[in-house]
Amino acid sequence: MTVPCVRVPTSEGEETRTALAERDLLDQTHEITVESGTLYIPVTDRTAVPTAYDVVERDAPARTTQTTPAEILGFEPSYERLGDVVILDEDDPERARRIADAIVESDLRARTVVNRASKVKGELRVREWDVLVGDSTETVHREYGYEFALDIAEVYFSPRLATERHRVISQVDAGERVVDMFAGVGPFAVPMAGRGAAVVGCDLNPAAIEYLRENARRNGVEERVTAIQGDVRDLADDYAGWADRLVMNLPHSAGEFLETAVELASEECVVHYYDIQHEDDPFGPGERAIRGAVAESDVDYEVRVETERLVRSYAPHEYNVCLDVRLTAR
Ligand SMILES: C[S@@+](CC[C@H](N)C(=O)[O-])C[C@H]1O[C@@H](n2cnc3c(N)ncnc32)[C@H](O)[C@@H]1O
Repeated sequence: MTVPCVRVPTSEGEETRTALAERDLLDQTHEITVESGTLYIPVTDRTAVPTAYDVVERDAPARTTQTTPAEILGFEPSYERLGDVVILDEDDPERARRIADAIVESDLRARTVVNRASKVKGELRVREWDVLVGDSTETVHREYGYEFALDIAEVYFSPRLATERHRVISQVDAGERVVDMFAGVGPFAVPMAGRGAAVVGCDLNPAAIEYLRENARRNGVEERVTAIQGDVRDLADDYAGWADRLVMNLPHSAGEFLETAVELASEECVVHYYDIQHEDDPFGPGERAIRGAVAESDVDYEVRVETERLVRSYAPHEYNVCLDVRLTAR
């Protein structure tokens, strides 16, 4: 059955849909369709549509399901979701714009759409973004039952590491003492406290530490999380010999902090050491660096590598890896 539809390029879709909605002209009983970069928006009364718009008769399916961005675009876009922020990774700004418009047009719940504008960079590991839709880059992300408030323009966060974090968090027992040396907004620290550990989370980034405190409160574990802003190398003054477990999630340069890690370690301590290495020897450099730092320490530790894990592919021939290493004082 044909219905009257306003015909516009997909790039003008959202603007047109909004204009028609303001005049109460959207036909909610039929689907918006897309073909070859053109959007067909069903309307209730063709005679009431402003003459600036092109109205055609067109077959439009009765509305039964949710409209996806792919249906509007005619191809499957790739995107990631972080709370109600949708993240694109498009080199072509025009393509990014089209996808953003389609996301708004669709039934996907999105308050903000951003496109990656830089690599993760600097000591704070923060990225720049082009904000295509919306005005706030702050959101609340949910992971394994925990809530994390964060602003992607101010702090590091990767939803892709959820499974890996869960693997490590699951090893924690109540009563353990944990230092998360590069804690960010708390995706390791908060759930570990949720399992009953006493957690010290450190980060150089003041915004990350503010969110870590907020996230500890949000998830009801603020009594077990101590958030410290600053360089983790200064932590050994107060926490030397304290930690039963250390999380070292600063893959490009964790090696520079191994001396501090060994200072923080108690007599029996598990270290989760993240690294980025070539596929030819993904775990060797990390293990050698840990053994080297231990050899320099005052405590005589036995070093046992308990897990070698390929977390994800990072670049061609390079992996983001994790070593779980147990240090036991002899
Ligand atoms: C890759 S992010 C990881 C954050 C968090 N663990 C996560 O999974 O989302 C590394 C973090 O280390 C922090 N950082 C970098 N150098 C640091 C230092 N010297 N002392 C403490 N934190 C540091 C950065 O600000 C950043 O938040």
